[in-house]
Amino acid sequence: MVTLTGDSLLARALPAIARDVDSMFDALLPGEGRLAEAMRYATIGGGKRLRPLLLTATAALHGADRTQALRAAIALESIHAYSLVHDDLPCMDDDAMRHGKPSTHKAFGEAMAVLVGDALHAFAFEVLADPATSGDPFVRSELVQILATASGPAGMVGGQVLDIEGEGQALDLPAITRMQQQKTGALLSASVEMGAVLGRLPPEGRTHLKGYARDIGLAFQIADDLLDHAGDEAKAGKALRKDAGAGKQTFVALLGEERARGQARMLVDQALAHLTSYGQEADLLRSIARYIVERDR
Ligand code: IPE
Ligand code: IPE
Ligand code: MG
Ligand code: MG
Ligand code: MG
Repeated sequence: MVTLTGDSLLARALPAIARDVDSMFDALLPGEGRLAEAMRYATIGGGKRLRPLLLTATAALHGADRTQALRAAIALESIHAYSLVHDDLPCMDDDAMRHGKPSTHKAFGEAMAVLVGDALHAFAFEVLADPATSGDPFVRSELVQILATASGPAGMVGGQVLDIEGEGQALDLPAITRMQQQKTGALLSASVEMGAVLGRLPPEGRTHLKGYARDIGLAFQIADDLLDHAGDEAKAGKALRKDAGAGKQTFVALLGEERARGQARMLVDQALAHLTSYGQEADLLRSIARYIVERDR
């Protein structure tokens, strides 16, 4: 038998998760009418699917069923997609491109884009709370609680508020860290934790995975900010070099490019150190951590 290294595992896992997420969105989203069309536009195709990959990889590591993990991943990716639709609105970051095509409000109008976000938010919990996601109501309610907490005032939305209110302010390192951990880290951490819940890992057994997720979550946003600073728009599929002009408070703004890059690499090393209790079976999680800072999109 050929043993795949972590990086070749990742090279297989990325297209596989993209395909599975697209086909499950296609199967589960409503099919008729303008709202359905716009929900499909915002979710199918384009994204890297890193959160679904993290969720399904963690679930697989602990022996969970892949179809159930994919359903949970669809719920989480719906929240992520809604956050991007709203993030691009003129009243927020005012971005005209996402995933290499016009952002949802450019294609469907602002009112529809607001409503697409609202609908995806509800859809996420509809999918998660369905018995098909887990036959165990305790597992379902724990998944709902983790995703709700990561999405709301203590998570993504709270972080987006800090991001918008922070524009043009001079935030210090702890304040920027808190903003990034909420706006981006919370959903990435939820991906790992939801995978662990489906794998029936008790809360006290999740500490190392939480440490891993926290570190890659922060590294992920630093990488996004570095892409904005120095990336290639065609590869990223979105407008870049906007954060500085908008007065966004980022690690790159505070530390400069080189130190921000160093910080991201340090966080990846720290993330890997949380996985030492696992052997080869966690190589995919290790590769994901490295990919998060090396990616060009
Ligand atoms: C972009 O997230 C927004 C942030 C939280 C930084 P991703 O880079 O994961 O977006 P897609 O889904 O792959 O487009
Ligand atoms: C977005 O962060 C974080 C979200 C919660 C959507 P950014 O505003 O930096 O994401 P991009 O660069 O537009 O993808
Ligand atoms: Mg933003
Ligand atoms: Mg943005
Ligand atoms: Mg950005």
